[in-house]
Amino acid sequence: MACNDDWQVAGRRKGAAKRRQHPSNPKLDSHQVSDCKLDKQKIINAVNELRGENFWTEWRDLLSERLLSNASGSSELNKTSLQYCVCYGLGNFASCVSARYQLAMLLLLLETLQIPVGSCCVYDPVFSASECDALKELGFTVLTENEEGKRPVYQPTLFYLMHCGKALYNNLLWRNWTPQTLQKIIIIGNSFHGIQERMLQREFERDYSFLSNVISVCDETSLPCSPRFLDVFNDTALIQFPSENLNKLPETMWIEPSEPLYQHCQDLEIIQREKRS
Ligand SMILES: C[S@@+](CC[C@H](N)C(=O)[O-])C[C@H]1O[C@@H](n2cnc3c(N)ncnc32)[C@H](O)[C@@H]1O
Repeated sequence: MACNDDWQVAGRRKGAAKRRQHPSNPKLDSHQVSDCKLDKQKIINAVNELRGENFWTEWRDLLSERLLSNASGSSELNKTSLQYCVCYGLGNFASCVSARYQLAMLLLLLETLQIPVGSCCVYDPVFSASECDALKELGFTVLTENEEGKRPVYQPTLFYLMHCGKALYNNLLWRNWTPQTLQKIIIIGNSFHGIQERMLQREFERDYSFLSNVISVCDETSLPCSPRFLDVFNDTALIQFPSENLNKLPETMWIEPSEPLYQHCQDLEIIQREKRS
């Protein structure tokens, strides 16, 4: 993990830097540089705090046992050897404490699962320029395109989507809608069952058909959290798609999945990419 004790605490901020929607200017002014250092230091502090939490120890033990290929007790079937990670929807971790702890948790997860930080892509359309710089200094690969969650998976990949819009999950499933590919996807994010419980079944099936089609066969293990971190890690689960379960779905379910359009959704909850005219 790019968790480096040598990082300096930057001086006091001289004024709130205006947050930009899109990191466009590669040259940083002195305020942005100090914002970036401050952001990084806050993250390191959060990592160290989380390390001392009992619930983190529980996450670490559970995830190591389930996801590390050399862990004792892991069967041939669930050996995954994760090499990549994608994180969508972290939010403004410089100003939002929840997002900061979620980022800190991501660093702990990468360290535990032995995924190089550079093999972790992060994207949120609201990241400011200094947040992008802090992420790059931590070693992350910061994406510049809004993929709307439609990332094709070729190797076993961990997706970390904390409190993200349902369409991001649904789009990810659509893009990888074959049993061979879905089994390579591991999600740490909102419980699919929790999502279903909070929606009318009719709307869940109509608007999020990939989520609703896979929910009966996904393997979902809820991840604990302490009362202090309820707002940050509530409703979080480890979600996997074991091949033996996927093979139980009727073959017709895999034929020509049509891209979700969300025509009936009043509140899509995700930011879509700008339409090119
Ligand atoms: C409900 S907020 C959650 C923020 C933070 N993770 C938290 O728990 O406080 C959802 C986040 O998803 C982000 N988001 C929306 N559309 C996105 C997209 N297309 N790709 C990645 N992230 C997106 C939003 O900008 C927002 O930060």
